[in-house]
Amino acid sequence: MIILTQEICVLKGASKTEKYKTLIPQLNSLVGFEKDQIANLSNIIAALKMAMNYFWVGCYFVKGNDLVLGPFQGFVACTRIKKGRGVCGKAFEDNQIIVVDNVDNFPGHIACSSESKSEIVLPARTRLGEVFMVLDVDSDKLSDFDDVDRKYLSQVITIIESLYN
Ligand code: SME
Repeated sequence: MIILTQEICVLKGASKTEKYKTLIPQLNSLVGFEKDQIANLSNIIAALKMAMNYFWVGCYFVKGNDLVLGPFQGFVACTRIKKGRGVCGKAFEDNQIIVVDNVDNFPGHIACSSESKSEIVLPARTRLGEVFMVLDVDSDKLSDFDDVDRKYLSQVITIIESLYN
């Protein structure tokens, strides 16, 4: 069965890789005709949620030493995270992708939902390599993120960076 919305089409039941491969070219088209960053980011997040059926997906913008909640899809989330705190704050501080197989084993994990079990966080960087945002994806299953997610969500980060650089 094909899931068809106004803009995004993915093959239901396809592999994670196939879904990413189908989705990412469509993200480029989705943002190609709009110059507003928040509008484009909101649609990217919505398309990711719909196509990949994530439990939660959203972004946090760097504001000084804080991360402040941006567009997201899923449960109500904490609005502000200090640099170095939680998975997001650590990804911000270390400027590194972080994959957490079991959030209960991550020191200082911030549980916006008690149902979150695994997580991946990717920094988005300026041309100077400074973090200006992190993309956060939660799953309600243990060990739900792997190198496929690293690879293709890094391509999504590249699209997001192009909106801001
Ligand atoms: N779990 C994240 C906080 C954000 S909520 O999951 C949306 C963290 O530990 O940084």
